[in-house]
Amino acid sequence: MSLKTSEPLSIVVVGASGDLARKKIFPALFALFSQDLLPDDFKAFGFARSVMDDDGFRTSIMEHLTCRYVPGEDCAAKMDAFLARCHYISGDYSSSDSMLDLYQTMQAHETTDMVNRLFYLAIPPSVFIATAESLGAAGLVACDDGSPWSRGVVEKPFGRDRASSDELAAALGLVFTERQIFRIDHYLGKEVIQNLLVLRFSNAVFEPLLNCEHVAEVHIDWSENLSLEGRAGYFDKYGIIRDVMQNHLLEMLALLAMDQPQNLTAAAIRKSKVNLLKSIAPPELEQLVTGQFSAGELDGREYAAYTADKDVPDDSLTPTYAAVRLHVDNPRWKGVPFVLSAGKGLASRCTNIRVRFKQKGGGIFELHDSKLANNELVIRVQPDEGIHLSIVTKIPGLGMKLGAHDLDLSYGRVFKDSIIPDAYEGLLLDVLRGDRSLFISGEELSAAWDIFTPALHQLEQKAVRPQPYPFGGIPPELP
Ligand SMILES: NC(=O)c1ccc[n+]([C@@H]2O[C@H](COP(=O)([O-])OP(=O)(O)OC[C@H]3O[C@@H](n4cnc5c(N)ncnc54)[C@H](OP(=O)(O)O)[C@@H]3O)[C@@H](O)[C@H]2O)c1
Repeated sequence: MSLKTSEPLSIVVVGASGDLARKKIFPALFALFSQDLLPDDFKAFGFARSVMDDDGFRTSIMEHLTCRYVPGEDCAAKMDAFLARCHYISGDYSSSDSMLDLYQTMQAHETTDMVNRLFYLAIPPSVFIATAESLGAAGLVACDDGSPWSRGVVEKPFGRDRASSDELAAALGLVFTERQIFRIDHYLGKEVIQNLLVLRFSNAVFEPLLNCEHVAEVHIDWSENLSLEGRAGYFDKYGIIRDVMQNHLLEMLALLAMDQPQNLTAAAIRKSKVNLLKSIAPPELEQLVTGQFSAGELDGREYAAYTADKDVPDDSLTPTYAAVRLHVDNPRWKGVPFVLSAGKGLASRCTNIRVRFKQKGGGIFELHDSKLANNELVIRVQPDEGIHLSIVTKIPGLGMKLGAHDLDLSYGRVFKDSIIPDAYEGLLLDVLRGDRSLFISGEELSAAWDIFTPALHQLEQKAVRPQPYPFGGIPPELP
């Protein structure tokens, strides 16, 4: 089936002056355009408060477009053709008059009334609701009755807890139906994460082993060796549990641990994920540790403490690190700890899923060294994505000397002739094609909040002070 849709299309990026729009969304659209995957009649409209004309806007996005798919001399012409389809409208998010301006500009450039419209809300959560309301009031969003369609893409954070997430959902629901909303978690668009389904359900060797009989524990670890890089004001209101754990890490856990969906439809995949998330018991505070980075040094550079940032209060209790031990309360995973950890200001930037298998007892080899004895399946999400399986092997030579070595599917080496798409490229294409399998359903979002909301409230009510760890140093350990 062709990946390209043919109906006329307008993409509206609200918050078009921001980082996400300039560095991710427009480059992804250009990548699709370069591969002839956008409809022939396609236009993009940027909307934000910043005052710019079309040329200024085009210059602001041009620097982030890459020629990966059109190397050589043709690239400049391709960029010009793409940028000529990009327009900019300045206005207020909460003003229906501004949205009417946007509407008129769109109509002036659109060649037909039968145009599909995609609204990408690349704005901070504080303006989500007002924006949705003014889009609705200006009549930009078509009814959910088929053709032409209107769809809305929203980015996490989807609220701060279950109640605020429900409130946001209700407000968005006045404008977009559940079928029209695409909640993005860009980790789900990463190649190696999409490969999880294939790895698990198309290879005979893994699925029989992924259960409590064979798995000792699962770790899903996310680390960044950066400070807040200008996002401290946002981050301090959310913290690492809401920013990373409740979404990216839980999504990875769900894909790794869910039962096989009935088929590959979005409904079936989402159902399996929801069932898995609903069987995770909300963690008690004893299953959790939080940390906050203090001043430190990494790679010869001095970093200030988190609370030294001008946008962070001196007495902030916001965790920049957290680790939690979760349990999946179903027969398949009985007793297997799922340890999630996420932290900023750590020694490296890395996201890994590690499945450590139980020791094989009673065999003919004596495997005293615990590193040798446990097979480990590692899904390396970033950087250098790949899939590795550590096995015990005989070291070549005389005598029987054993060692642990990797079966190594490093994407950079094995798929060196393929261009690995950015997560946003695939996700945007899926939105255009109406494929929801990689997007978060409302039910899934609620189930994910139900896991973390009680602990988040307790941490705040009890004013739990995160344990300090030096920037680039070792974070606190789980009890
Ligand atoms: N950057 C990423 O890679 C990334 C990844 C995952 C999720 N997200 C989420 O995606 C959304 C957009 O991200 P971003 O990095 O592009 O955000 P951003 O740069 O902070 O904001 C996008 C635009 O929104 C407007 N804006 C900022 N603060 C505002 C405020 N207080 N009130 C009204 N308008 C405001 C600004 O445009 P004007 O001043 O011109 O109106 C800004 O250019 C956020 O919800 C973020 O959490 C981002």
